[in-house]
Amino acid sequence: MDARQLSQRLTGMRLLTLATSTPSGRPLTGPVDGIFYRGSFHFGSSPDSVRFSHIGRRSWVSATHLPGEELAVTVHGRAVPVDLHSGEGRGFRDTLLEVYLPRYGQEWEAFLTSGPVYARIEAERMFAFSNPPAGFAEPLRESDADPDPFKQFARWFEAAAGAGVRAPEAVAVATATPQAVPSSRMVLMKEHGPDGFVFYTNFGSRKARELEANPHAALLFHWDVLGRQVRIEGGVTRMSLEESAAYIRTRPRASQIGALASPQSQVIASRDQLEGRVAELSGRFHESEPPLPTNWGGFRLAPRSFEFWQHREDRLHDRLRYTLSEDAGWRIERLAP
Ligand SMILES: Cc1cc2nc3c(=O)[nH]c(=O)nc-3n(C[C@H](O)[C@H](O)[C@H](O)COP(=O)(O)O)c2cc1C
Repeated sequence: MDARQLSQRLTGMRLLTLATSTPSGRPLTGPVDGIFYRGSFHFGSSPDSVRFSHIGRRSWVSATHLPGEELAVTVHGRAVPVDLHSGEGRGFRDTLLEVYLPRYGQEWEAFLTSGPVYARIEAERMFAFSNPPAGFAEPLRESDADPDPFKQFARWFEAAAGAGVRAPEAVAVATATPQAVPSSRMVLMKEHGPDGFVFYTNFGSRKARELEANPHAALLFHWDVLGRQVRIEGGVTRMSLEESAAYIRTRPRASQIGALASPQSQVIASRDQLEGRVAELSGRFHESEPPLPTNWGGFRLAPRSFEFWQHREDRLHDRLRYTLSEDAGWRIERLAP
């Protein structure tokens, strides 16, 4: 990883473990939101915080960003105050608002005015350690591939979870109208195995209407840290209400209410209208279980083909396609990258 790639990787908010020292010189660490902005980490806190009282006496700090096992970045240096109202500080203030407003809403701007203080770490030394997880650019050979694509999928899915992919079950689903006009969106896969791949959605949504009219879909998983994608194509059937109910009842109450309240993919007048409906249903079913939605449930895709794609050096990627034949089970073929 070169300096530009490292800088790209760090830009935005990155959790830091920040070490300062007490008046008697003892080190003390704690977590802070680090904002990597214009080549250095910035962090903020209340002016009365222990951290800033330490920095007031001694400005030496050491900070580490360690998001997982594949990357660690440590910086030793001095904490230099940033004035959010000065020319340079104003750019940083805008960045803070960009990061935090979507998360905490407008109140955060009022909080920023109420006086947290910010500092930039002026680095004396910086160390980066990068260790691509096992699997990245590793060959996918016919001899290693499981003859059963469901087992091969399970192996890669577990590897993705193990490599720290945040939501390995997030998958793009492509559907098409009977006139072959395509559309795609992300869903969460809730089951996989010889019975197929299951996701849950609203039966009135665009995807559901397209699937009713044209029951074929394509799934696409992409696990970037492992340099892998899996494509799965097949026929789709709607699961029965009973089958769906078992899953829906495992969901948190708020998510069940949300499914009842939202006419997914319909035009609505405002967010207020949606929140009003949620409040009404939450009140109505305050002490009882919310009814099972009749408009929400599972779709099951029965694969006809799988393609496992593995990133390799120099664009010479590995691609193994599994196709279901009537009599001979799954046939494996290699495709050119
Ligand atoms: C990571 C991710 C996971 C999602 N999971 C689901 C899901 O499991 N079910 C669902 O109906 N929508 C899910 N959504 C929202 C869909 O992408 C989409 O907005 C919604 O289903 C309406 O799509 P449609 O109008 O094409 O039917 C998810 C979105 C993202 C980004």
